[in-house]
Order: sequence, then structure tokens, then C-alpha cells
Amino acid sequence: MGWQKIEVNSSRPYPIILGNPLSELGAYLKAHWSSTGHVLVISHPEVLNHYQAPLLSGLNDYKVDVLVVPPGEQEKSLTRLNDLTTQAVSKGADRHTLVIALGGGVIGDLAGFFASVYMRGVKLVQVPTTLLAQVDSSIGGKVAVNHEAGKNLIGAFYPPMAVWTDFSTLETLPWSEIQNGLAETIKHALIDDLGLFEFLEEHKVQIRNRESAIYREMVTRSLAVKVRIVSQDEKEQGVRALLNLGHSFGHALETYSEYQEISHGQGVSVGLVAAGYTALEKGYIQQKELDRIIRLLHAFDLPTSAPGKDPERLLQLMAADKKNRRGQKVLILPKGLGKSVIDREVDDDLILYVWEKLTQE
Ligand SMILES: NC(=O)c1ccc[n+]([C@@H]2O[C@H](COP(=O)([O-])OP(=O)(O)OC[C@H]3O[C@@H](n4cnc5c(N)ncnc54)[C@H](O)[C@@H]3O)[C@@H](O)[C@H]2O)c1
Repeated sequence: MGWQKIEVNSSRPYPIILGNPLSELGAYLKAHWSSTGHVLVISHPEVLNHYQAPLLSGLNDYKVDVLVVPPGEQEKSLTRLNDLTTQAVSKGADRHTLVIALGGGVIGDLAGFFASVYMRGVKLVQVPTTLLAQVDSSIGGKVAVNHEAGKNLIGAFYPPMAVWTDFSTLETLPWSEIQNGLAETIKHALIDDLGLFEFLEEHKVQIRNRESAIYREMVTRSLAVKVRIVSQDEKEQGVRALLNLGHSFGHALETYSEYQEISHGQGVSVGLVAAGYTALEKGYIQQKELDRIIRLLHAFDLPTSAPGKDPERLLQLMAADKKNRRGQKVLILPKGLGKSVIDREVDDDLILYVWEKLTQE
């Protein structure tokens, strides 16, 4: 099957190359950045186990060093950044070195931030290998590490030179990780693509059965929503906030659970339902549309409620959301299916009512 290229418009536009094997990335680099002689591949052990050989088979003309990072969100840290810097120096990395971030969002954010600051910035190519990274985190140029005071507090906007998406890497991804990407894909459909929502409804079984042709189309359509939005608003001054649909509610739930009990995708899933109930009360969507959202999430075993949690505490946690402005909550709500709006006028009483509904046992 052929490959496809989608341009992302940003302060430095870059292409997303879809459907080419990892082994061909080297030839692409040679054709585009002949000045590069040294490549640093940054990745996790599990990902390298599967994909180091095909990637490196195409990089014979380069001096390649592989820097290994243990898996886990805790690795998005200044400590790990410092360690990468030490290793990069010892490998002789200089301003002409190119960084390949091979992995999911953790590697994309960490290696991306490293590339943005090492010697004041070196070239970066994102090679996303999780569904979430392919449809979401590899696109849009946000890179970051965490701080004890909050997630992604130390970061930058640093567009890559290219994003290289080989769909076949998803074949080794566990279902629980696929679910995280599916939650973001349903979010993208709700924000701006009714056709994608219907595609997901029609192909639930094939998605569960991991059919590659369906994934190819789903990923391409899902990432196109993010490309359209970040191409209009690189630095999140306006429309990019729409990508936060479900996240204000979801983050409250993740924080409540201290990031242990539920995954990010599960938080987003409940968050989408919470945004749906809020939209229902505001007259933005109909009950039958909300029922379709809930049915679709169920089809992928994503949760749609949070029984037993304390609604007051969940409301309180939403007050700390980074997206709030001057104490006023900024929520993204669906308007019908396939459209969403930024709403700055949602009363706390309504949010509490929604949490009370979703936390009933
Ligand atoms: N920069 C952004 O715009 C943005 C957007 C959304 C999320 N994020 C960030 O993304 C991170 C989450 O990313 P994620 O969901 O991709 O998780 P992840 O990067 O932690 O990857 C999940 C796990 O899957 C493994 N893995 C990766 N690819 C694999 C493959 N092909 N086969 C088998 N195993 C594989 C990894 O080793 C890891 O253990 C969070 O830190 C979040 O803050 C960033």
C-alpha cells in the first residue's frame, strides 16, 4: 500500500509521513538533511526490542547511538534529561546531531524536549509507536518534562523536522495502550469529524480485532483533526483549546486516583461523558447523541462513570486546571456530534450535578 504525506502548518512547517516502513527513514533523512552524520535514537527497551533492527537497517550511512530510557511517566523528568545530556556528550553529539524519538508520548515529549535544549536545539524526528502518539502527541510541537508541582510544567513548542508514522508498529501494542489512543480518537471525532465518529461506530468489531487496514484509515482521519487544529493555532491562543475536550473532567479523576487506579484514556473516557452530560443540560446535544457516545466508549471497554468517588472533591480538583482563566473554568463541550465549543460559563452547580450523576454506585 502507498504512503501519504500531510503538511502541518507551524512557525516551521513539517510533514507527517504516513505508512512508510521504519527501514526507509534513513533514505528519507539522507535525501532531506545530508549535513547530518550523527543520529541519536532515544527509546524504551520494549520498543527497541521490536523496532531497533528495522530502523537501524536503514541508517547504515550514519553514526548511530541508541540511548535507552526505562518506561513510565516518571521518566519525563529533569533527572532523565540530565542523564540524556551526559550520554549525548559522551557519544560526541554536536549541533548537527539528529534526534529520533522512537516510542510513545513519553519518549516523544522527553526526547523532544531534550532536542529542543541540547546545544540550544538540534534536529528532531518523531517516530510514534503508540496509537496515542500517532494520532495525538507526536503532532503539534509540544514537548515537556514533568515537575513535582505538575505535569508538563517544563517544556517548549518545538516542531520536529518530520513525523514518521509506520502503522505496523501498532501490531505489538497491548490493548490497554490502544484504548488510550481510542479515547483520544473518539475525542477528535467529537471535536471535528462526524464521519470519523460514524466510521468508529461501523468498525467497532474490526477495531477490536486489530485489523490493519481499519487502523490505517482511523489513524489518518484522527490525526487529521489534530493537524487542522494545530495548523490554525500553534501556540494555543484560541482554537487549540478544543483538544482539551474531556480533559478537564478527566484530569480531575486522574488526580483523584493519584494516577494509579485509572489510565489517561480511562480518565478521558469518563471526561467525555461528563462533558456530554454538561452539554445535554445546556441544550447543546440530545440524549440520543449522548447515548451514542456512551455506546461507542463501551464498545472499546472504556469506562463511562466513576462510581463511589466524591463529587465535591472532583469539582474542587477541577479548580486547579491549567486551562482555567482568572478563576473561571474553561470547558470544552460537544455541540451535537462532530462539533465542539469553548464554554466559559458553566456554573459549579452544574458541574457538581454532573459528577453526582457519574459517581452514583
Ligand atoms: N505533546 C503532546 O502534545 C502530548 C499529547 C498527549 C499526550 N502526551 C503525553 O504522552 C504521554 C503518554 O503517551 P503514551 O500513551 O504513548 O504512553 P507511553 O509513551 O508511556 O507508552 C506506553 C507504553 O507502550 C510501550 N510501547 C510503545 N510503543 C510500543 C509498541 N509499538 N509495541 C509495544 N509496546 C510499545 C512503551 O514502552 C510504554 O511502556 C504522557 O506523558 C502525556 O503527557 C503529550
